[in-house]
Amino acid sequence: MTDELFKAAKDAMAFAYAPYSKFPVGAAIRGEDGKVYKGANIENLAFPQGWCAECTAIGQMIMGGAKKIVEIAVIAEKLPLCPPCGGCRQKIAEFATRDTCIYLCDEVGVQKTLTIDELLPFAFETEVIG
Ligand code: THU
Repeated sequence: MTDELFKAAKDAMAFAYAPYSKFPVGAAIRGEDGKVYKGANIENLAFPQGWCAECTAIGQMIMGGAKKIVEIAVIAEKLPLCPPCGGCRQKIAEFATRDTCIYLCDEVGVQKTLTIDELLPFAFETEVIG
């Protein structure tokens, strides 16, 4: 993982709006276009109807015109590594390839690197839809 992606995930965490959980999370994606897209978790009073940092970053990536996640870094201030939630695993899978690198980080750097098959084994897949 590049320093740029790690720094982007950390920087993104500073934008977390997490007054209810007080659990800031940051994510940064490098898309197939080479650009870095950042996201933080964003909550609201009807907690848990907020959304995760990964979700924000994916939205940024799509709106930036990229369609594939080359690599994604996730960091949470209060955990040595933050495994993406179930919903985010499915969302990441939608835009991942078998080569996508998923980096779980702490404040120093990468603590664990996973593929999407490791993060979401036996994923929901069908050719009936779409
Ligand atoms: N959260 C994320 O942003 N990403 C994850 O992978 C796990 C959880 C957020 C959701 C919520 O705002 C807070 O962390 C506590 O669950």
